[in-house]
Amino acid sequence: MTSRAHESFYSQAELYDIAFSFKKYSAECDFMLAQFKKLIGRDASSWLELAAGPARHSLEMSKRGIEAHALDLSQAMVDFGTKLAKESDVALEYSQGDMCDFKLAERIDIAGLMIDSMSYVLTNESLYQHFDCVANALNDHGLYIIEMTHPKDVFGLEQTAKTEWEIEKNGTTVRTQWGDKSDTFDAVTQITDVTVRISSETAGQKTEFVDHAKQRSYTCTEFQALILASGRFELIAQYGAMNPAIDLHHKKAWRMISILRKKK
Ligand SMILES: C[S@@+](CC[C@H](N)C(=O)[O-])C[C@H]1O[C@@H](n2cnc3c(N)ncnc32)[C@H](O)[C@@H]1O
Repeated sequence: MTSRAHESFYSQAELYDIAFSFKKYSAECDFMLAQFKKLIGRDASSWLELAAGPARHSLEMSKRGIEAHALDLSQAMVDFGTKLAKESDVALEYSQGDMCDFKLAERIDIAGLMIDSMSYVLTNESLYQHFDCVANALNDHGLYIIEMTHPKDVFGLEQTAKTEWEIEKNGTTVRTQWGDKSDTFDAVTQITDVTVRISSETAGQKTEFVDHAKQRSYTCTEFQALILASGRFELIAQYGAMNPAIDLHHKKAWRMISILRKKK
């Protein structure tokens, strides 16, 4: 089972792109490609971004001469990412689809799932289906790199990422709020009903969208066990940021980055 995944929030693809424009897409691609080179011993030549949103990582990969594929549930995101690729004159194969139920015609070297999009995979069964789809899309020993919430944030010990922020770009101010005090958490399923709000202001014109969807929290040891139980991947390494010098226990650790290699 996957969530309805904040469909109306993600339908505001252009506003999402402004809200997340603080991300260091190029540095994150450097990290992922360096991991591939270190572990596989050659440069990656193809990339697949799952739950890709505006597909900024894919655009960056494509600019570097890497064959780029992207997949997202939201048609608005697919249309927006495709438009960005055309505007930058880079090649991008972007399809609409569910990351727990997709097939690719070709095999890929490296796949990525960013910003805790795994939280939309709500059950262990869906996670196994997702791992099957990704493993089937990868070359032998292909890598799968997953960015998730850091365990200290999952357990409420520390807030490692902002949940409310404002960004101004090209005359539009976008304010995002992830989560609300009224959100409910089910301790059995580890699923929260998450409220998200995105509002914008351009030349005095205001808009606001409020959406609700289910998101699952994964603990670190549980995720390690699920990777093992899937039988499709081995866990090669975990980091606390997209930086090989920051392990999960490092004081600057703020994300959980897992590097998985497809089993033969
Ligand atoms: C937080 S955004 C991440 C976007 C992008 N990867 C980035 O780095 O900005 C999450 C994305 O996941 C997509 N999504 C949610 N559930 C999905 C599913 N089951 N299959 C494919 N995409 C999904 C949403 O439509 C949204 O674009």
